[in-house]
Amino acid sequence: MSSLSSVDPQIAELVKAEERRQADTVKLIASENYVSKAVLEATGTVLTNKYSEGYPGKRYYEGQQVIDQIETIAIERAKSLFGVNHANVQPYSGSPANLAVYMAFLTPGDTVMGMGLPFGGHLTHGWSVSATGKWFNPVRYGVRKDTGRVDMDEVREIALRERPKLIFCGGTAIPRTIDFPAFAEIAREVGAVLAADIAHIAGLVAGGAHPSPVGHADVISTTTHKTLRGPRGAMLMATSDEHAAALNKAVFPGLQGGPHNHTTAAIAVALKEAATDDFRAYAHQVVANARALAEELAARGFDLVSGGTDNHLILMDLTPKGIGGKPAAQALDRAGLETNYNTVPFDTRKPFDPSGIRIGTAGVTSRGMGEDEMRQIGAWIDQVVTALAKGEDEAEHAITRVAGEVRELTSRFPAPGL
Ligand SMILES: Cc1ncc(COP(=O)(O)O)c(C=O)c1O
Repeated sequence: MSSLSSVDPQIAELVKAEERRQADTVKLIASENYVSKAVLEATGTVLTNKYSEGYPGKRYYEGQQVIDQIETIAIERAKSLFGVNHANVQPYSGSPANLAVYMAFLTPGDTVMGMGLPFGGHLTHGWSVSATGKWFNPVRYGVRKDTGRVDMDEVREIALRERPKLIFCGGTAIPRTIDFPAFAEIAREVGAVLAADIAHIAGLVAGGAHPSPVGHADVISTTTHKTLRGPRGAMLMATSDEHAAALNKAVFPGLQGGPHNHTTAAIAVALKEAATDDFRAYAHQVVANARALAEELAARGFDLVSGGTDNHLILMDLTPKGIGGKPAAQALDRAGLETNYNTVPFDTRKPFDPSGIRIGTAGVTSRGMGEDEMRQIGAWIDQVVTALAKGEDEAEHAITRVAGEVRELTSRFPAPGL
């Protein structure tokens, strides 16, 4: 960072401050992780200087001798890791990747079916404020009130009634296993394309800790920066070659120009790391940690959506604790426990001040923490939330004490890449 420090000390100091903040806090944000030093190094390379519109062997700029090799390696590693025939590693992030799925299969006004945002779906699955909800005709499924889980009979009923051309499964706040074969059967029945958005669980799928959509979904969309532990980016994959040309055309020239080659290289590195036995062990530990944390929180009287978790993610409704998700998340952040406030199914509060918080174990597991640490974290969450419900003085006292204990824990578990 010596050049950055001399050219722009203000930004250099802020980067250092963020590094310290990341080191000193317990990252429980379900969509985040810590990348390895190798992934970080790849993102900060001269590859950022190169334009390479097109695909390996078919570019619109000269000088692709090296970039073609890098992108080909990333593609081949994605194909091998996930067991697919086609991979596109160019989408700038998860939202553009999903938009490319619409571009490949739909025309504006066509019907798309996805999980509603308050139930755990993503904005890009046809939510009203997203371009996907404005330019297409969205229909939605949710979860059952009594189980907190997707009801596949209801999904089938809606699909038969609405006849969507595209169905999204997967989402952003789903604590349970996604039933890919059941979604595929429904998609086949109504003649829809099935897109599995595995952004959250890609690392678990790669590591064998969640069933794979391969062989069921027509298209698989994923970000690379969550459980997969890569740089910020995305990939689109397909089990068969049937949709390869449509997906490639939708990404470029449909939606994007030149790919971010430094990101492509870092994706390649992350995919190499994800193919190791260490990563498989990591993926299983992420799930074991989430289960341990969920059990601790449930034992302490927290109301977990669906009663627990099958993956890396826990969604809690704080209504029985007498406090909203936002003040809870803010207090936890001050105690060094980083979460995000989140709507819960059938939430009676507004999205900017919802009833729940969302927690994930991808980051803490990357730091080497295990079930014992999860139980400790569960106890801290309880202490802060319970104190907050009692009043400001109690909360200040609890936050200060827990913050000190959190710093002691984080100093024993250095984060990768920092
Ligand atoms: C399921 C899902 N799909 C897509 C996205 C969009 O990814 P990005 O934020 O990279 O655009 C997210 C992000 O949280 C997500 O959770």
